[in-house]
Amino acid sequence: MAICFCAFTVFSLMPLLVSGAFLPAPLNITVLSTNMKHLLIWRPVLKPGEAVNYSVEFQGEYERDYANDSWIAIGECTDISVTQCDITGDVAATVSYNLRVRASSGSQASQWAILNGFNRVTTTLIPPMMTVTADGYHLLVEFEYLGLAFEYWIVYWRKGKEHKAYHKTLKGSSTAVHLENMEAGMEYCVKARIYAEAINRYSSFSKVQCVTARVGNTIWITLVPLFLVIFVVAVMTLLLIARKICQICQYSCFPNESLPNILKLSESPAKMFHHQTEEMEKSDESVHVLSSAELLLHSWIQETLCEMKAPVLPSIP
Ligand SMILES: *[C@@H]1O[C@H](CO)[C@@H](O)[C@H](O)[C@H]1NC(C)=O
Ligand SMILES: *[C@@H]1O[C@H](CO)[C@@H](O)[C@H](O)[C@H]1NC(C)=O
Ligand SMILES: *[C@@H]1O[C@H](CO)[C@@H](O)[C@H](O)[C@H]1NC(C)=O
Repeated sequence: MAICFCAFTVFSLMPLLVSGAFLPAPLNITVLSTNMKHLLIWRPVLKPGEAVNYSVEFQGEYERDYANDSWIAIGECTDISVTQCDITGDVAATVSYNLRVRASSGSQASQWAILNGFNRVTTTLIPPMMTVTADGYHLLVEFEYLGLAFEYWIVYWRKGKEHKAYHKTLKGSSTAVHLENMEAGMEYCVKARIYAEAINRYSSFSKVQCVTARVGNTIWITLVPLFLVIFVVAVMTLLLIARKICQICQYSCFPNESLPNILKLSESPAKMFHHQTEEMEKSDESVHVLSSAELLLHSWIQETLCEMKAPVLPSIP
């Protein structure tokens, strides 16, 4: 059994390692096809001490049936050193294609390795990458660009109301769309799939993404803290100004002065003297405190306000 296995391994590896006249054909040629992008791949041919190149050709329905079974070389995949070839541009119809690859090294060339019957209708369709964001009153849905072969089919609904879903289709080269019919502050869910018209097939749906449509304008929300600060500063400034005006108003309209001495007959001369000095100190203080600007304001208030309030002046007992 073990000998059998070893013999098989050596036998199957031998063509790859043989040097000299014989160059083996590439093995395991396969097409990886996802979302209408087709990539032909194969296993490398190993030739110790020497570089190996590869060339790829294809044959569609037309070449097979009407052009004498001819093959067409793919220019970008002739004499390449990598083991893959993008055949998306060549597999341009939804028909069966034959593909072949051969290895070459110097003047040597291998036999063709052939893959028969690739049809792009078998491509694997995977759901599109999608981002959903709230954009004011709308939802903005963005997709990765997959090429002109695809349309994006969008389904969205208010969370909890799947039975009343909206549909939207995105065609051409656009990959972003605003969804309407949003109620402010409500959570909406979105899913999408792609449709390839050329093969009349859909992918499955992407994962559902739910986002809450915002209440009001986003700019307003970001500026609220700034407005608060401005408001507080304004209120404090107004309070300070009001206080200052009150103080000046008090000096102007109701000066902290006593009645003229002549009216204070009941008081003793000693008391009168004491009172006078006290008063002088007080007026000294007020002269020091008032700046020129305040004095202007002071006189203005006196002229305008105090005249109106004349009857409130202290009455003579
Ligand atoms: C290569 O193809 C052979 C049959 O031709 C298969 O047995 C083997 O598993 C394949 N290897 C890989 C890596 O696909
Ligand atoms: C088709 O190929 C054969 C040989 O493979 C050749 O004799 C014949 O002339 C070709 N016909 C056309 C139309 O190219
Ligand atoms: C591989 O191809 C390049 C041109 O694409 C050529 O210059 C080079 O000599 C080739 N190598 C071999 C080993 O055939």
